[in-house]
Amino acid sequence: MAKPLHIAIDGPAAGGKTTVARALARRLQLLYLDTGAMYRALAYLALHTGTEVDNGPALRRLCEEDGIRVWLDPEAPLGFRIFAAGAELTDAMLQSPEVTAIVSTIAAHPAVREAMVAKQRALANGSGIVMAGRDIGTIVLPDARVKIFLTATVAARVERRREQLEGSGVHASLARLTEEIGERDRLDRNRAVAPLVPASDAHVIDSSDLSVKQVVDAVIAIVERTVA
Ligand code: DC
Repeated sequence: MAKPLHIAIDGPAAGGKTTVARALARRLQLLYLDTGAMYRALAYLALHTGTEVDNGPALRRLCEEDGIRVWLDPEAPLGFRIFAAGAELTDAMLQSPEVTAIVSTIAAHPAVREAMVAKQRALANGSGIVMAGRDIGTIVLPDARVKIFLTATVAARVERRREQLEGSGVHASLARLTEEIGERDRLDRNRAVAPLVPASDAHVIDSSDLSVKQVVDAVIAIVERTVA
């Protein structure tokens, strides 16, 4: 039987990965998962259980004891459903400023990443999927048939992040978002485990001046070339 199609979409914060990945999954009729939501769900759970953001082993336990669960459901508002300690999380909960402030620190723990990567691989096992994140092409699905690294200038990413937040009902100033994105870039690129880098076989796309449709069309052209 042919191997299911795995597509990895990696890149820095607010580079348009999730919008592109979801649109791509719809067009290609594949499952979709934003792995950033899993790290955000763990940050949410840490806040709600009073778990210290520096305590890697405790965070790993939170994640493993069925604290974070994901159902791949393309019809769900997010394109998948995500639960923390049994309660379903909404986009507004995942994107809250409190969660955003601690998520990069939480995602830097090797123990947390090990637990998350195992869950992510299990979700992709046997299914065609578009997975968005930071380390999908390098660590989670190194054999993915198509790997995309989506970049954009900080200014373009700040503007997109503002629009995304407004859509979730969260208001944020451009100055604060510029600072936040710069800080998350720094943490994501410099962490010791699974730092944000393009896989050696990734196609790098700069989306600063492209519409979502243009990016999705470019990725579909790459998929067609690769799979043909
Ligand atoms: O994509 P996002 O902004 O929702 O991601 C939230 C945080 O999770 C981000 O700071 C980096 C981390 N992350 C990660 O380390 N690895 C992934 N595969 C996805 C996200």
